Amino acid sequence: MTIVDELGKASAKAQHLPAPITSASRMQSNRHVIYVLKDTSARPAGKGAIVGFLKVGYKKLFVLDDREAHNEVEPLCILDFYIHESLQRHGHGRELFQYMLQKERVEPHQLAIDRPSQKLLKFLNKHYSLETTVPQVNNFVIFEGFFAHQHRPPAPSLRASRLSRAAAEPAPA
Ligand code: ACO
Repeated sequence: MTIVDELGKASAKAQHLPAPITSASRMQSNRHVIYVLKDTSARPAGKGAIVGFLKVGYKKLFVLDDREAHNEVEPLCILDFYIHESLQRHGHGRELFQYMLQKERVEPHQLAIDRPSQKLLKFLNKHYSLETTVPQVNNFVIFEGFFAHQHRPPAPSLRASRLSRAAAEPAPA
């Protein structure tokens, strides 16, 4: 819990947010999933070191399509993403993101991104060729192709089992 709280604080600081959007207590009260990348070879007290994290979750949203019509959708959303300052631009963000895409069985253009930073927009453009956005009136960003291949959240029972499996899995190496 301390690690999740500290990660949330570091991410908020990096994004100049007034308060963390990720904390252990919030993780207990919602259905978000957090992926943590750990360097097992680092040796503070022999426990390794956290490289960064990625938090995702399904959210019901109203989004505009390219004809400015409202659509009610429930996409997987990128909610918080942070790699330690000393390790950014070394490919760790991509490693974590790829792992998440594979586990969640989702394609990059099917995601909605909550208030992406400039760094994240550049990241998505570079690694996934996501560039053209569909303008929205909320804080979420979606990209061209979002409506072409709608991704639905797994059924509640399946989602519950996937969540408990994710929680039981060791952090990706
Ligand atoms: N300036 C511009 N682009 C950057 C920067 C930067 N300082 N850092 C990363 N990028 C983008 C670039 O496209 C870069 O490619 P390049 O070096 O050839 O220009 C690419 O990301 C590098 O890819 P990775 O090494 O795989 O990414 P990284 O490990 O740095 O992780 C992340 C990307 C998570 C955005 C990281 O830079 C970070 O933690 N930034 C600070 C916090 C932040 O902005 N998080 C996103 C908030 S928005 C949200 O979470 C919904």
